[in-house]
Amino acid sequence: METISIIDASKHVDEEVRIGVWLTNKRSSGKIAFLQLRDGTAFFQGVVVKSNVSAAVFALAKEVRQEESLYVTGTIHQDKRSHFGYEIEISEIEKVGASEDYPITPKEHGVDFLMDHRHLWLRSKRQFAVMQIRNEIIRATYEFFNKEGFIKIDAPILTGSAPEGTTELFHTKYFDKDAYLSQSGQLYEEAGAMAYGKVFSFGPTFRAEKSKTRRHLIEFWMIEPEMAFMHQEQSLEVQERYIAFLVQGVLDNCQYELKLLERDPEVLRRYTELPYPRISYDEAIQLLTDSGEFPDVKWGDDFGSPEETFLAEHFSKPVFVVNYPKAIKPFYMKPHPTRTDVVICADLLAPEGYGEIIGGSERATDVRYLTEQIKKAGLDEKDYEWYLDLRRYGSVPHSGFGLGLERAVTWITGEEHIREAIPFPRLLNRIYP
Ligand code: 4AD
Ligand code: MG
Repeated sequence: METISIIDASKHVDEEVRIGVWLTNKRSSGKIAFLQLRDGTAFFQGVVVKSNVSAAVFALAKEVRQEESLYVTGTIHQDKRSHFGYEIEISEIEKVGASEDYPITPKEHGVDFLMDHRHLWLRSKRQFAVMQIRNEIIRATYEFFNKEGFIKIDAPILTGSAPEGTTELFHTKYFDKDAYLSQSGQLYEEAGAMAYGKVFSFGPTFRAEKSKTRRHLIEFWMIEPEMAFMHQEQSLEVQERYIAFLVQGVLDNCQYELKLLERDPEVLRRYTELPYPRISYDEAIQLLTDSGEFPDVKWGDDFGSPEETFLAEHFSKPVFVVNYPKAIKPFYMKPHPTRTDVVICADLLAPEGYGEIIGGSERATDVRYLTEQIKKAGLDEKDYEWYLDLRRYGSVPHSGFGLGLERAVTWITGEEHIREAIPFPRLLNRIYP
């Protein structure tokens, strides 16, 4: 007899199989017990019929407790009423590990309680579905950049540079020197692009942001492609192709998870239709002003969550907002050819109120201009000599962007809060578990 995973049940209809599972819930009467089972690949039901099993097996089915681990043996049947579509009629149960008074019960729990038990909460259905979709987005990311001819260049985590400004740095000692946890791998990817053309990094990044919003993590994962001989408009095309590819991957490979989350695939399907609209920052300000909902907004302001939510809801697809004011963007962005007040950049705002999921730009290439910007940003020029070398030796037009993995996961899964989109979230007041 074969030992299988629940996910493969469809290939074993009417066969006898063995599966290692945990019990999530159960219901029983004098004659029959329904065991809700999971094994990390899917959730399904086990049925134990008293008249078909030994007295000992039926007794065990009645006393087994939430999150106890078991081997169950039985026959797979179709079960048209469930999301999953199959169930197992159990003939044998072997207990593997006991579980007493599992803290997360089917009743409602507060968010803090659940976050304190994140190591167990991850076993729940919704969290399972979100983590599977996160995994699909990671898988599709590698597939996409591979097929588009990118190579992965890993950026260091311990760095001496601060691409996104000095206010949100995690400081640490590096023997007798100072170092920071990486805010972004971008500057290193620029070196990679000058060496290998099209590169990307995919790693953890850190922001000591004192923001307590449903969109901010202290530690998050970022995908940062960087492309040599590429202007901003072509970079936007890569970005929208990439996002549509991720959404398509989830539609193709995560139907079961979308059902568990009650996420409408038809809504997601719209996001695979390209191109996405592009509006300028100037036009965005105009839309906000015209709405009457933002009486204080003025040209030069950065957008907070309410503004981004409004703009993203205004379109039924992701929307690029291009050419933000220079004063609110990082030092490395390419200045506009005819305007001194804006830079060649774009943020991609996700619809349904999810806000910025990508930030990117064309990069400045002029050494003198960059040196000036580095000084203006309060950074030490010495730390960026290597970066300026990239402009001294065969500089080319180049562009890149960063996608926040958890922002994308939150949006695609339709979750309320970004803390759901990463296994162990680091939040303003949380580093446990
Ligand atoms: O807009 P950001 O700060 O851009 C950069 O770091 C560039 N160096 C990227 C590049 O051009 N290579 O961050 C990029 C993305 C944001 O659009 C957002 O999705 C995500 O990273 N992000 C966060 N996600 C979760 N929590 C936070 N605190 C985040 N800050 C940024
Ligand atoms: Mg940004």
